[in-house]
Amino acid sequence: MKFDVFSLLPQVFHDYLNSSILLKAIENKLIAVDVHDIRDWAPGKHHVTDEPPYGGGGGMVMKPEPVFNAVEAVLGNPPVCPLILLTPQGRLFTQKDAQTLAELPRLALLCGRYEGFDERIRQHLVTDEISIGDYVLTGGELPALVLIDAISRNLPGVLGDPDGAWDDSHAGGLLEYPHYTRPASYRDWEVPEVLLSGNHARIAAWRREESLRRTLARRPELLNEAELSAADLKTLRALGWTPDGVVAEEDNQPD
Ligand code: ADE
Repeated sequence: MKFDVFSLLPQVFHDYLNSSILLKAIENKLIAVDVHDIRDWAPGKHHVTDEPPYGGGGGMVMKPEPVFNAVEAVLGNPPVCPLILLTPQGRLFTQKDAQTLAELPRLALLCGRYEGFDERIRQHLVTDEISIGDYVLTGGELPALVLIDAISRNLPGVLGDPDGAWDDSHAGGLLEYPHYTRPASYRDWEVPEVLLSGNHARIAAWRREESLRRTLARRPELLNEAELSAADLKTLRALGWTPDGVVAEEDNQPD
């Protein structure tokens, strides 16, 4: 999958993309990321990319010309792939989006700085607007990296374990079960016996129940959209859940 990122701070992407799993994905040609400096397409000697807003008020607004020029030079007109604007005004990014977007061969991401974008960029250039959460960052670069990371790990071969993304938190609409590793006893805190039993069916059942328990305690609203079996519903009812009114028990399992 190919990502094209448009940013005024292209240098911030290098270290994150050149580390660990994303670096391997790039080396193995599973993903490619081209970061384009919007300033390169700003006309004039000073390559101005922002100006004060018409109508007054604080802050600076990103000018349309450099952004249209950059996007059209790289993606053509009309653009060859979807172009997502990262903005706190966008719809909230979810694991489902990460899975759906991972099916695209190419995706472009537009990162803002300053107070915002000239509205004509929203109206006539981007195909979607995404936010990574209800808070405001100083720019869209971190959100773009969040999307690249979350999308890439859904591509076949990117995670070492082929099922790696399958039982992630949120993948099936639930939070993931607790994990333990060696030692089995640490400061008198024991790993649950079932995980040492070698009984794969019991382990799977325990994990499923813990996943349901944790989701009920921390994010009960997710249960309304999750894929739940008859056995899951039985477990949840035993934990005090009803589809409309949720009575969550304390989430006092060890982290
Ligand atoms: N730019 C600034 N804040 C943002 C957010 N929360 N999500 C996406 N882009 C942003």
